[in-house]
Amino acid sequence: MNFPPARILAIESSCDETACAVLEDGRALLASTVASQMDIHARFGGVFPEVASRQHVLSVVPVVEQTLANAHLTLGDVDAIAVTRGPGLAGSLVVGMNMAKGLSLGSGKPLVGVNHLEGHLYSGWIYQAGDTPPAEPKFPLMALLVSGGHTELNLMTRHLKYQRLGSTLDDAAGEAFDKVARLLGLSYPGGPAIQQAAGDGNPERFNFPRAWLDGTHNFSFSGLKTAVLREVRTLEKKSNDLPIADLAASFQAAVVDVLLNKTLSAAREFNAKEILVAGGVSANEALRNAFLAQDEFAVHIPPLSLCTDNAAMIAAAGYYRFVNGHQDGLDLDVMPTWPLS
Ligand code: KG4
Ligand code: ZN
Repeated sequence: MNFPPARILAIESSCDETACAVLEDGRALLASTVASQMDIHARFGGVFPEVASRQHVLSVVPVVEQTLANAHLTLGDVDAIAVTRGPGLAGSLVVGMNMAKGLSLGSGKPLVGVNHLEGHLYSGWIYQAGDTPPAEPKFPLMALLVSGGHTELNLMTRHLKYQRLGSTLDDAAGEAFDKVARLLGLSYPGGPAIQQAAGDGNPERFNFPRAWLDGTHNFSFSGLKTAVLREVRTLEKKSNDLPIADLAASFQAAVVDVLLNKTLSAAREFNAKEILVAGGVSANEALRNAFLAQDEFAVHIPPLSLCTDNAAMIAAAGYYRFVNGHQDGLDLDVMPTWPLS
């Protein structure tokens, strides 16, 4: 299906990244800037909400200016302004939203509020402007969303249409990576730290539990986290030298096993044509390799720069909302919790 051309400027500030992007026609990325606060929060071992919102205030204007400059455009050249409305930290969201409202008011361009989770899914449509456009994901599409705050399976039957099949009953996959990293004494954020530590580890050394939750499309990672904790306590009694690489690799293998197999079985059950994996955890190399190694379904996984939080994905989702007639007023409010469907 062909949609009309439109250039979207988007702002994302739901957590600890202040981001802006300009995207054409829902797919071609002209410019994307991400100002990460990761180093600031690392010393607290997690995101410190009040510090995050103050940092967004400092970054948001330069980030928008830099993005427009990189795209060689002015605000007059864009057709609409998209902004993350939720879910996320209220104090962080409000900074991006106020910036977007100001830009909309000053330029007369329409404002489009976007669900952050919907944004993650739309990262699967984006390519760098100037490159040959890759094939678009095909519907019905089985979409696995794995981020720091969410883990869910959605069946996308067409643009903007989601059927949530299941989600985590406790920790999100990214949250499990972050918590296990902390108990292994690794740095924040835990996902990349575990991936690195697991590099030369043996994924079969520890047989950590997999919560299959048969008959459902839900996930659970808290039992796995506790199993790693118990193993660490047992090992600590024997030696001060923990086999961090093997623990990290075995934990990662358990997460990947569940995410891959539950997604494949849902894709079969709902006759999905293809699979999409998105969200911060989709940056995980073991997870990417596992999905790409199977040949039952074509799999779309965004490039690494679009897996973790960014504004290009908000612009992509904003485009499909905008060309479908969706517009918001300046009274648009934040939605700190806002399920996709
Ligand atoms: O999507 P995202 O940037 O923010 C949320 O919307 O939550 O996801 C952040 C999560 C964090 O939990 C982080 O540890 C995880 O994604 N993550 C990874 C990797 N890179 C980021 N998890 C596993 N392996 C990675 N390479
Ligand atoms: Zn996110």
